[in-house]
Amino acid sequence: MKIAVLPGDGIGPEVTRAALRVLDALALPGLVLFEGDVGGIAYKRHGHPLPQETIDMARAADAVLFGAVGDPACDDLPREHRPEQAILGLRSELGLFANLRPAAGWPGLEDLSPLKPQLARGIDLLVVRELNGDVYFGAKGERDSDGGREGWDSMAYNEAEVRRIAHAGFRAAQSRRKRLTSVDKANVLETSRIWRETVIAVAADYPDVELDHMYVDNAAMQLVKSPGQFDVILTGNLFGDILSDQASACVGSIGLLPSASLGERKTEYGTFGLYEPIHGSAPDIAGQGKANPLAAILSLAMLLRHSLGREADAGRVERAVAQVLADGVHGADLGGSASTETIAEAVLKALETIS
Ligand code: NAI
Ligand code: MG
Repeated sequence: MKIAVLPGDGIGPEVTRAALRVLDALALPGLVLFEGDVGGIAYKRHGHPLPQETIDMARAADAVLFGAVGDPACDDLPREHRPEQAILGLRSELGLFANLRPAAGWPGLEDLSPLKPQLARGIDLLVVRELNGDVYFGAKGERDSDGGREGWDSMAYNEAEVRRIAHAGFRAAQSRRKRLTSVDKANVLETSRIWRETVIAVAADYPDVELDHMYVDNAAMQLVKSPGQFDVILTGNLFGDILSDQASACVGSIGLLPSASLGERKTEYGTFGLYEPIHGSAPDIAGQGKANPLAAILSLAMLLRHSLGREADAGRVERAVAQVLADGVHGADLGGSASTETIAEAVLKALETIS
């Protein structure tokens, strides 16, 4: 089992180190780690935020454990040299088209949610967002118009693109509460018409999953009104970008939310993927031991589950995190004072008691 570790910038290396301590404690047989440069640190060392050797290292692995990229010292660089290009480049180089973002209310943290505690408590959902298509990747430009300069973008989805993300969504639903809500704007958009028809066709392969459809504006409202109704939300790149941020905010702290980006490539043990906390490099707290490592540790749990086929280990790590939170070991983002290291050690200690 090979994992490419790309810690990146700012708090990326701090939270990744904590995740690696947890991985080490699991003592998986036959595990090999490679470490590579990505982001601002890669630009400093190699003149590019995503060096070819980093791409090659990621390709040769069964999974990538990613920290975060972003460095204020790189703010004035041209776009192609900015650290953030590294994560976009990796997603497309590695064909990672399915972004999985789970958001669940942790016991004891309901008061941190901007929602009423009883609503926050009921959240246990997964956003499955398409990552390689949609308006972000369509033709775009600027032209003259009667009203002055006009910017334009184009939105497109073909059946093959929708089909593969729909399969990812249905498979995710099968492993959860077997409910899938496909979010589109089929009353207005042609892309959404193809999206909806294709999702309905794919649903035939998953008779055990209950499918419903929701317009994106209604989905935004339902997410704050009654988030407990959702199990898996399947949606495109643009809608998914917005709804996944909204869903994560409903839970509380950014320092708790992991993500997986998966492609079609199978490994010996599961599906190849890249795993990262949803937060960035947090330059405001970098180097101070204040970063909450739980998002990175929960990303590791997703890696174990999806890419290494180690469901039991993934569950152990998640239960250890739940215990640490319930025990009140909270970092600054949760209004506590526990350091990155203290939190990591609490997870290691909890792991000892969880089988
Ligand atoms: P951010 O997520 O880095 O930070 C937002 C706020 O949340 C900050 O106040 C930060 O201190 C806090 N925070 C984030 N993670 C935390 C953690 N684990 N524990 C405690 N507090 C935490 O987003 P921001 O400030 O917008 O961006 C900073 C840099 O990160 C930028 O260069 C941005 O482009 C980059 N970025 C990179 C991402 C990635 O690597 N995938 C994703 C988002 C942003
Ligand atoms: Mg976003």
